[in-house]
Amino acid sequence: MKEQLVMLKEQALEKLKEQSTLQQLGDWKATYLGKKGELTAALRGMKDLSAEERPVIGAMVNEVREALEQALETKEEALRRAEREKRLREETIDVTLPGRALPLGSEHPLNRLIREAEEIFLGLGFQIAEGPEVETDYNNFGALNVPKNHPARDMQDTFYISEDMLLRTQTSPVQGRVLRANVEAAKQRGETSPQPVRIIAPGRVYRRDDDDATHSHVFMQIEGLVVDRNIRMSDLKGILTTFTQQIFGSDVSIRMRPSYFPFTEPSTEVDVTCYSCGGEGCRICKQTGWIEILGAGMVHPNVLEMAGYDPEEFTGFAFGMGVERIAMRRYGIEDIRHFYTNDVRLMSQFKSRV
Ligand code: PHE
Repeated sequence: MKEQLVMLKEQALEKLKEQSTLQQLGDWKATYLGKKGELTAALRGMKDLSAEERPVIGAMVNEVREALEQALETKEEALRRAEREKRLREETIDVTLPGRALPLGSEHPLNRLIREAEEIFLGLGFQIAEGPEVETDYNNFGALNVPKNHPARDMQDTFYISEDMLLRTQTSPVQGRVLRANVEAAKQRGETSPQPVRIIAPGRVYRRDDDDATHSHVFMQIEGLVVDRNIRMSDLKGILTTFTQQIFGSDVSIRMRPSYFPFTEPSTEVDVTCYSCGGEGCRICKQTGWIEILGAGMVHPNVLEMAGYDPEEFTGFAFGMGVERIAMRRYGIEDIRHFYTNDVRLMSQFKSRV
């Protein structure tokens, strides 16, 4: 029995060396130390021993068990360590690898131009105002000195929603909204005169037009309105010169041609030096050397009066520019419809710089 135990121990330790995974260790443990294992079988044989032999062999069995358990533990630990090291080696992250580039969206060229324009006007002391795209007939026309049935309404083919509601054909209705809000605020404060105004109002407008390369039934305008004491046409020219030079470059000039709008008097259309030929005359500017970008003028006294500003005390200028036109010139886009069909091949070229 003694020899048997010694052999068992040696055999077990020998086998243990061959085990190379935790899984195999488990099997080994079952074979030698488990309930149905060899050591248990040896214990069972003790009933045939004499009373003197029994404690001796019993102690020996315990000794062998302890030795095996000890060896198992050591081996197990070594295996675990090896496995951990292997995993660490395999899963090492190379922090010097370049990251994966995520596709970034891009800013719509119209929004980009509006943002640039806003930055310029904010720098000139303007504030940004807004108005709704669904407007009242009164705000879009009446408050702008265009009475019902006035032929000037034919200048802008209008989408009507009902008799009194429409999709605004211009951003000019924001003029009356801002002026009236100021008059109201002055009243609330108990002041006799409303505050001066210096705003721009960018936004979407709608006209019943057939879409082609230069016309779209929906487009963007930036309205401007300055109302204060002693505002003159030279102020208008100065602001517009500064703005166009910041947008197009310091070598462009503007020229003002007489025009007509019901809500300004006098009225003017403003051209900038053709970006393409620099003023020489080319196909794009139809040989004139100039490109029209906006309508403007001195605010009509009727508009001021209807909103509650005293035209004896206040004068002002207003302008409205077509954003698409400027963006087409600025970014070399040849068809206005590109802005609204959102072809990613075009749009993705306008990566945001922010
Ligand atoms: N609202 C005019 C248009 O859409 C432009 C304009 C604005 C002209 C302000 C004069 C003053 O054509």
